Amino acid sequence: MASGNEEESVGSVSWRLIGPASELSKKQCRLMHSSLGYGSDVCLFYVKGEFFAMDARCAHSGGPLCDGDIEDADGILQVFCPWHDYDFNLRTGQSGTGLQQQVYKVKLEDGSVFVKHTSPLSLQPFPSSKKS
Ligand code: FES
Repeated sequence: MASGNEEESVGSVSWRLIGPASELSKKQCRLMHSSLGYGSDVCLFYVKGEFFAMDARCAHSGGPLCDGDIEDADGILQVFCPWHDYDFNLRTGQSGTGLQQQVYKVKLEDGSVFVKHTSPLSLQPFPSSKKS
């Protein structure tokens, strides 16, 4: 069957159900595992009543952003990587260092949190996929 859409075969970007907002809002950050593997895991932050999703591994050298401190600088929320203290804007993923961290859209629907991503995301690790 011919597919008119190249992207679909790579993995289409769709809304991925993460879980109930009432539960996910209890922690400042949750690690969401990606079915694509470690490098594609995503952080789900809950800060000041809002959810944000961002690649979990720092664009600098792969530090764990879920373990970073979050600061509010005049209304701009930033996470600081625990490894070398680079800042990343939770909303845009931009860093004052010039690096860019990938961020994802988050929506709330019927009390559930959804993140727009190319791969399924899960709070539990995926069963270990075959190593190449
Ligand atoms: S790995 Fe995050 S700042 Fe270096």
